[in-house]
Amino acid sequence: MTKLKFDYNNMMSAMVGTEGFSDSDLFGASDKLASAADSVVSKKGTGWQEWTELPYAPKAEIDEIVKTGQEIAKSASAWIVFGIGGSALGPLAVAASLLHLKHNDLPDAKRKAPKLYVEDNVDPERMNALLDIIDLNTAYFNVITKSGETSETLSQFLIIYELLKEKLGADQAKKRIIVTTTIGKGSLYTAAAKEGFKIYGVGTGVGGRFSVLSPVGLLTFAVMGIDIHTMLDGARKMTERCIESNYTQNPALLTAHLMVEAYKKGKNISVMMPYADSLKYMADFYCQLWGESLGKALDLNGNTVNVGQTPVKSLGVTDQHSQVQLYTEGPYDKVVIFLAVEKFRSDAVISDSSLDVGGFLKGRTMRELLEAERVATEFALKKADRLNYTIIFPKVDAAVIGGFLTYLMWQTAYAGHLLNIDTFNQPGVEEGKLATFAMLGRNGYEEKLKEIKSKPKNKKYFI
Ligand code: PA5
Repeated sequence: MTKLKFDYNNMMSAMVGTEGFSDSDLFGASDKLASAADSVVSKKGTGWQEWTELPYAPKAEIDEIVKTGQEIAKSASAWIVFGIGGSALGPLAVAASLLHLKHNDLPDAKRKAPKLYVEDNVDPERMNALLDIIDLNTAYFNVITKSGETSETLSQFLIIYELLKEKLGADQAKKRIIVTTTIGKGSLYTAAAKEGFKIYGVGTGVGGRFSVLSPVGLLTFAVMGIDIHTMLDGARKMTERCIESNYTQNPALLTAHLMVEAYKKGKNISVMMPYADSLKYMADFYCQLWGESLGKALDLNGNTVNVGQTPVKSLGVTDQHSQVQLYTEGPYDKVVIFLAVEKFRSDAVISDSSLDVGGFLKGRTMRELLEAERVATEFALKKADRLNYTIIFPKVDAAVIGGFLTYLMWQTAYAGHLLNIDTFNQPGVEEGKLATFAMLGRNGYEEKLKEIKSKPKNKKYFI
């Protein structure tokens, strides 16, 4: 059985008292939820919901990505992704979940794929640190930007292309960089097409944070030897669950509803807390997806609503010793989403030593300890009437991960629908991107620069 399970008992009043929801609350919403499902599903594959069709990409397209990935893997010492936001977090979250947890540190003989670096920030020290550790003679790069205009990614591209040209000459340099962007649109596409780089397309109706199952993520996974056919199969199976109009059959619809209703009751924060290091970066993926999709000023009727639940990442058990005190005793303003794994890829036996440091640990395994701590934290939250639910992974493999990503994206689409907002735009992010162009003197942004420079008088500084 490789299906994700959803344990939402601790969202219900039977477990957490008046903080929770009753069966009749849920039952009473069934018509509303069925119509939400019909509405979201009716747009499947159209407009900004083109991402819903990614799992159904023609086999030939996926085979080509696998072949290219395998070719690169044969000669690359490192695969470096330059991208940010939706162009980085999906590749990072999936690779971190499916590769060896110390992939880059494995000795060459044990590492089955090139080293992987996902470089999103433009801290100059980070760029130089990367250049200190990679070998330009054997490194390959994937420059990913859907818009083809993002300053961070373009700057990385320009730096690396010049360095590669210097070292290997223009012809070889071009073979080391693969571009992933919107075909026919944006500065990167124009330059890359002119220069003759290999280019993968991102569908026009596939937003950055919904693009992980497009070439944005798939090429990296193929280079890393991850089975992308199986991942997409898991995504298709989850899609079937997520298009059901009966909320009892549709985990994305049900949890979206519970989250939106919890938000209306003052749960302004949602914490994703994986109890598995392999899933650590899934919480980052969730934070971007949930935050950027649902944090909106206007509803679809143009009313100012300023909605959005603040997503927070946490890690079990690490954050039990940092955040859980706040989650159990602080304000009643959170929903905690636990990610649990039934079958780990390996276990570590705690030796039956003669040292007496607490007999209860002897002969146990770390898996047992981790699981006991997860159940204990869930119990502590429930006892304190704190809303929480658990997503149970039978194991962490390509099919389950494909299903989980698909569930998260559908859940977000339903939540946005229930909040009556545009889930797929990001005007707040775009404003910052345009202001950056203006600050760096890009032609056509003179008015924006004036707006930025029109500082209020008497600005306060503390020096
Ligand atoms: O989800 C989004 O649309 C954003 O987070 C983008 O992914 C991010 O801003 C990067 O944009 P681009 O891929 O165009 O460089």
